Amino acid sequence: MREQEAVEATLVETVVASFDDCQDPRLQELMTSLVRHLHSFVREVRLTEEEWAAAIRFLTEAGHITDAVRQEFILLSDTLGVSMQTININNAAYENATEATVFGPFFVEDSAAIALGGDLAFGAAGEPCWVEGRVTATDGSPLAGARIEVWEADEDGLYDVQRDGAQRAARGHLFSDAAGNYRFWALTPTPYPIPDDGPVGRMLTAVGRSPLRASHLHFMVSAPGTRTLVTHIFPEGDPILWDDSVFGVKQSLIKKFERQPAAKPTPDGRVIDGTWSTVRFDIVLAPAGS
Ligand code: BEZ
Ligand code: FE
Repeated sequence: MREQEAVEATLVETVVASFDDCQDPRLQELMTSLVRHLHSFVREVRLTEEEWAAAIRFLTEAGHITDAVRQEFILLSDTLGVSMQTININNAAYENATEATVFGPFFVEDSAAIALGGDLAFGAAGEPCWVEGRVTATDGSPLAGARIEVWEADEDGLYDVQRDGAQRAARGHLFSDAAGNYRFWALTPTPYPIPDDGPVGRMLTAVGRSPLRASHLHFMVSAPGTRTLVTHIFPEGDPILWDDSVFGVKQSLIKKFERQPAAKPTPDGRVIDGTWSTVRFDIVLAPAGS
């Protein structure tokens, strides 16, 4: 047994030593630590050759299903909590700044600009939702002209980019006014599954986990001199809040979405046939470099 342990430990040190001549100290640190942790895992669970082969097959399938829209490796990172942990490390709490959460795979660079009070649904199906709030720095001063990117799934649980033709819908961007205020129409968020027809979905099934994400509305907010915030808001009372498949929910990001009766005039004087909802989300940006 001692001999076996020595064989295994020697191999770890030999692999680690293979990075000795690496000219990039950070790369050397990353590779060394990765190898030590990987070997610890393999040795701790006494990985069988069949299990090793299954892992290789899994990664191969993840590669095959990945394309410009579908990113199975990010899904894997998300469902193992690695994305959220990286966000936690790189977006440390700063005073009263709004907390960050997972980016997800469905942001696109070229969303349409909407005016303050405009509608970013662009015909996507769902209950209308009036969203308003104020963007400030941590000292409470208003941030005028902050760029607010918003994106969400429609009521069928699909993002525009998941549909054939990929007409842009349920996404857009706008800018806060001189007092930092913003307002727009979107859709009341509903729960939807992460793409689960690939190896990550099969992994979730095998371990008895649901692919559902808690209902949410994505935001990315940026302003000069501040740390760009990538986050979501989640409706209070959503049944999946604490079962989110990518571990993205933080208590501070749960907001009251208040359902309004049909025909009640909206804040901008519209009369809507069906029910609609309202939510307020005040956004506090941390200083750049914090
Ligand atoms: C999303 O919220 O859009 C998302 C996040 C992580 C994985 C899949 C989808
Ligand atoms: Fe999402």
